[in-house]
Amino acid sequence: MLPFSQYDAAGRLRHLITLDGMSRDQILELLERSRHYLAPNGAMPIRTRALEGITIGNIFNEPSTRTRSSFELAGRRLGADVLNLEIQLSSRVKGETVIDTIQTLESMAVDVFVIRDAEPGVTQFVAENVYDHVSVLSAGEAHLSHPTQGLLDALTILQYKGGFRDLVVAVVGDVKHSRVARSAYQVFSALGVGELRIVAPDALMPNAGEMPQAARFSSIEEGIAHCDVVMMLRVQKERMTQASIPDSAEYHARWGLTKIRLGLARPDAIVMHPGPINREVEIASEVADGPRSVIREQVTNGVAVRMAILETVIGNRRLRGDHR
Ligand code: NCD
Repeated sequence: MLPFSQYDAAGRLRHLITLDGMSRDQILELLERSRHYLAPNGAMPIRTRALEGITIGNIFNEPSTRTRSSFELAGRRLGADVLNLEIQLSSRVKGETVIDTIQTLESMAVDVFVIRDAEPGVTQFVAENVYDHVSVLSAGEAHLSHPTQGLLDALTILQYKGGFRDLVVAVVGDVKHSRVARSAYQVFSALGVGELRIVAPDALMPNAGEMPQAARFSSIEEGIAHCDVVMMLRVQKERMTQASIPDSAEYHARWGLTKIRLGLARPDAIVMHPGPINREVEIASEVADGPRSVIREQVTNGVAVRMAILETVIGNRRLRGDHR
């Protein structure tokens, strides 16, 4: 059997499991497509019938508000049918039953599976076991990968900063447990961000050897100094095996993004956060809601990115001539 690939035989995207290995051009093309789905300020969201007749199955077994509703709206705004399921895939991955679940949904003509799962490997496993015409999109895999989040983060930076090469970007907080940080690292490295920094307390730094192109800082003041982009991360208490961080108040005191600390970044720096935010833990409310915050624009951009990905994988399937 050939090793798993998220591309089809012609090299076009079929599944989206990871941004690892994606080229700058591939990413820029996806961002360009996403921009088509951004309505001008104040206008109604863009709608098409491009995915009429297509069925999308959202399978989420970790909590999600943003990503799930974003994928759902993306599908609906393209005219697809969307099915939301809360079923546990991960506990079954070693048995046969995950295959049964997939086959059941395939029999109901699901064309695209969107999967969020806490167990590494589940998304790829499903991708390896679906019909040729079916695509699988990751909506967040364990602590490893969250590719549509990486793309929406890149789109947001492109929108506000116009490019990547001259930027200093800091990813701050619980990097160790964050799939958002890993996908951000992959997309920013591929896009050639000028200087990429990971800024975290020692207990929340990824292992040595991970994210080799990023400079590491163990002080938030040094880490965000002169940055163009400050990307904050949620403290991921649910992924911590031992209490590796102090309590919330102490974390805020040492690591929270406050207005004073933000003053160390460039005057036109933008502040990002994937949500959900822990107010007054990793970020002060006045910063999250302040003039430099683009957190709400990230959410808007998420729908556009997911529309672009859905349109891309279905478009590529049409080019291959794969039908159910
Ligand atoms: C993130 C996630 O679930 O990975 N949220 C999101 O998708 N917007 C980040 C997080 O939970 O911290």
